[in-house]
Amino acid sequence: MASTPGTTTALTAWAGVLASCPAVWAPLAVHDPDHRVHVRLAAADDWEAYLLTWPSGHGVEVHDHGRSAGAVAVVAGSLVELVARPTARSGARPGTDRLVRHRIGAGTVRPVPPGRIHDVINVGRFPATSIHIYGPALETMTFYDDDLRPVRTERVFPEPPLLGLDEVRAILRRTGSRART
Ligand SMILES: [Fe+2]
Repeated sequence: MASTPGTTTALTAWAGVLASCPAVWAPLAVHDPDHRVHVRLAAADDWEAYLLTWPSGHGVEVHDHGRSAGAVAVVAGSLVELVARPTARSGARPGTDRLVRHRIGAGTVRPVPPGRIHDVINVGRFPATSIHIYGPALETMTFYDDDLRPVRTERVFPEPPLLGLDEVRAILRRTGSRART
């Protein structure tokens, strides 16, 4: 079956479905107490899935995902998403005034629409684990300073996925996802 471009809604559904199948991805989780670790689980023509592990206190930086939409499903621990306010670049005070905080607890999926500027951090005491789906696959990420001014854009070089695409598609179908894979 051909892949179809992922809408944020579809990607959110897929992330939830994949998150509910730990037998598939849990053996691939790498927990490093000093670093956030990502593993590319699967990749189609126009979407991809990652497994991330987050030590306590670790986050990304404020960033976007280029032209990709996405979804984040937390499967262990909890994460905090700091989302840039739409008006943050035009008058808000620097710092946290520009960012709205959302907790993503275990069992929760957060959609990440295209164009969102955010940070994701594990502020909890324990490690966190999450599933991320992006569509199309990440090509670039732009990072922002505290005033939400872009400071650099990094190209994302795709790594070989660790799971077979057919296996992941079968999971999405078997569990009744209405999303087309
Ligand atoms: Fe992100």
